[in-house]
Order: sequence, then C-alpha cells, then structure tokens
Amino acid sequence: MGKDVLTLIDQRTEISYEVPIQNGTIRAMDLRKIKTGPEDFGLMTYDPAFMNTASCRSAITFIDGDKGILRYRGYPIEQLAEQCSFLEVAYLVLNGELPTAAQLHDFVNHVTHHTMLHETTKKFLEGFRYNAHPMGMFISTVAALSTVYPEARHVHDPEVRKLEIYRLIGKVPTIAAYTYRHSLGYPYVYPDNDLSYTENFMNMLWKMVEPKYQANKVLARALDILFILHADHEQNCSANAMRAVGSSLADPFVATAAAAAALSGPLHGGANEEVLKMLEVIGTKENIPAYIQRVKAGEVKLMGFGHRIYKNYDPRARIIKWAADRVFEVTGRNKKLDMALELERIALEDEYFIKRKLYPNVDFYSGIIYQAMGFNPEIFTVLFAIPRTAGWLAQWQEMLEDPEQKIARPRQVYIGSGVRDVVAIDKRNGKNSTASG
Ligand code: ACO
Repeated sequence: MGKDVLTLIDQRTEISYEVPIQNGTIRAMDLRKIKTGPEDFGLMTYDPAFMNTASCRSAITFIDGDKGILRYRGYPIEQLAEQCSFLEVAYLVLNGELPTAAQLHDFVNHVTHHTMLHETTKKFLEGFRYNAHPMGMFISTVAALSTVYPEARHVHDPEVRKLEIYRLIGKVPTIAAYTYRHSLGYPYVYPDNDLSYTENFMNMLWKMVEPKYQANKVLARALDILFILHADHEQNCSANAMRAVGSSLADPFVATAAAAAALSGPLHGGANEEVLKMLEVIGTKENIPAYIQRVKAGEVKLMGFGHRIYKNYDPRARIIKWAADRVFEVTGRNKKLDMALELERIALEDEYFIKRKLYPNVDFYSGIIYQAMGFNPEIFTVLFAIPRTAGWLAQWQEMLEDPEQKIARPRQVYIGSGVRDVVAIDKRNGKNSTASG
C-alpha cells in the first residue's frame, strides 16, 4: 500500500501537485492551488446534483448501497426495527447512543409534554381550504411555529436547541393529524399524554366520540416500525435542505419546513403517494407487462423503484413487507399488495432494471400499509415527514456543532453572456444581438 496521496499533473503548466487522501476523499479546496497563473482563480470541481461530493463528515447514518446495508449510529436497521421503539431510535439518532431506561423515560416525558399546539396555530390551520394538500398544510404550519417560538433563533445555545427539538418531535404528529382532520372537516382531537407516540397520533387521527381512544396494538407497533425505518437516511435531498437552510443560522422550525418541502417532491418522499396512483392507473395484474413496456420506453417511471445510493434491495422495503403481513392480519389484505409483488417480480427479472440496478425502495410498499390502515394517499408523505423530523434535527445539530461547517454556498460555472450595455426599451428587438463581450 502506497501513500495516501494523489499526485496530479496539470498539463497546462506541467506542474505536479500532491493532494492528501483522507477517508477516500480529497478536499476540493486543495484543488484551488492548481492555477495557470496568478490571475487564475484556481481549479474547482463541477458536480451537478452532488453525484460524487461529500458535503459533510457525519456520524449519524451509514449506508452501503451496494450491499443494501442501513445503520443508525452503527446499529443495523433490522435490529432497531425489531427491538426498539421509535422514540428510543429518535434519541439514538439525536444523541449518538441508545438511551438507558431513565434517559428514555425523561426523553419521552419531554416530547410528550410538547405535543400541544398553541391555539393560534390551530386557527392558522383552519384557514386552509378543505381540499388543501396535507403536505402543503404541514410545511406551512411547521414554518409558522417559528412565529410562536421566536427564541428558537438562538441556534448556538444548546439548551434552546434541545427545547426546540422536543417541541418539533412532539408537535409534528399533532400538526399531521390536524391536517388530516381538517381535510375531512372533523373537529381536532387534543393529544392524550397517557398514550405512546404512535398511539397518541392514532388517537388524534381517528378518535370520534368515545371517551378514551384505544389504539390497536398491532397497528400502533407497525406504525412505530415504519417511523423507525424513516428516521434518517444520511445526506438525501431533504437532509441536505435542512443543513443548507440551517447553515444560514435560520431557526429549526423554518429549516424543518424547508426540509419537508424538499421531501414533498415526487422524486423523494412524495414517491409513496405516486406509487399508489401508479397502481391505480395500472389497475390489474394483466396490465403490468404493458406498463413495464411504457417504463422501458421512457414514457413513465416506475415509482418506488430506484435510488441514488441503493444499487441493491432497500433493506427498509424488506422490513416493510414483513410489517405488512402483520398489518393485513388486522385490516385484511390490501389487494394492491398482490399487484405490487407481481410488478416487483417482473421488474426484477427484466434486463432494463437489472442493468440499471433498480430495486424497490422504501416508498414502494409503505403506501400499501398506510392505505390498509385507512390513510388516503395524499397524507402518505406527511407520515414520512413525522419520523424524518428526528433525522433532520440530528443532521442540523451535527452541522451546527461541526467547526468545519460554514454557510452552505456552492460555486457555479458561469456560462451566460459576457458584459454588455443596456439598450433603451424602444430600441430592443427581442434578440440578444447587442452583446459586446
Ligand atoms: N423507473 C424507470 N427508470 C428509472 C427509474 C425508475 N423508477 N429510476 C431510475 N431509472 C433509470 C433512469 O432513467 C436512468 O436510465 P438511463 O441510464 O437509461 O438514463 C437510470 O435508471 C439511472 O437513473 P438516474 O435518474 O440517473 O438515477 P438518480 O440517482 O439520479 O435518481 C431516483 C434516483 C430519483 C430515486 C430515481 O431512481 C427515481 O426517479 N425513482 C422513482 C421515484 C422514487 O421512487 N423516488 C423515491 C426514492 S426513495 C426516497 O427518496 C425516500
């Protein structure tokens, strides 16, 4: 094994440079010294969509996309899903270690006591149209919390950060449940502090006139497992948004809203809703081969398939399939599951998908469980955002505590016009004919 050094020769100047290699990376700033002369800015890297750029050093989540491995803080996702509760995992993701019984008790207690929404926030929610998309309501309401807790802007104060983390983890299920009931025109249900995190969420969603909501334990546990699977996923689009917005020292409420906005897109967390719509469009198993042909012709994407990092089966999809069986014992089998299984079988045997290493991702099966539980597809992405809030906050906190991080500000390669003079409006011909540089 040689030295951890990369030797580069700039053919323009024939000068050779040595750049240290650390953790399989070189520092982009080390390339800045590669210049053709004193006037030259120095070499940059060009990496649209961050295909090969590490934006941070992180100790939270590990993914090996080729092997289909996911770990939070070193613990395999399979063990966490089997043995832990969501709040235990949220504590782990945020603090780096699994809690002791006393630490968990304290954490649960704090989160539980921050589940209520200020009455003005409730009124704010009432202003949305009855058919507003739940994700739009969720994003706006999370951002609106910033107006209720102005002290949240003191992001360098660890005690303030801790309080806002409790508030956000405590309140996101309440906001989510209120968006759901708002779209149905039902009165809001206040949190019940006797219940667990997911049981209370179910209470706020589905309680009608009964004096005390009794959650089905199997469904509550299945939801808890789904929350564990969605808690974090390293530097994805929404985590990157959280870090980028948080890097300007914006408060955690608006930064979380920005992350949720990133999540809402159909290529990210919005895909779970799209999978159900796609299964509706396909209609029956017989139509699957024709749909696959359309995917291969580039007319449509197979939603819930493919991943920037996983080039193997998404380990979360496997656990969701397992949880689905438990849920269906209570709810009855969702007929969409058979279609999804058939779609997966055909796709995984097809050269197009094999060659591109396209496998089902977390969103392929989650919607099928959610639908069986009684959720409409429009709220699926909100169900993703609740547990991911813990991951976003962990990423945000890590970013703020990292002395190497600064305001996130990428470079660009300018490809626009050279300098030119403004032409009076009555002399413009609509064409760019006046460039002088
Ligand atoms: N259906 C059909 N073809 C696909 C799909 C798909 N779902 N995903 C990727 N491909 C093809 C691309 O067309 C491309 O083919 P080409 O080489 O012939 O051009 C090749 O596979 C590589 O795909 P890219 O788009 O370059 O992969 P990228 O890493 O940029 O995109 C993404 C990843 C956005 C997840 C993509 O796979 C996709 O759009 N999937 C569907 C949406 C989805 O399920 N998103 C959820 C992801 S999980 C999450 O965010 C929680």
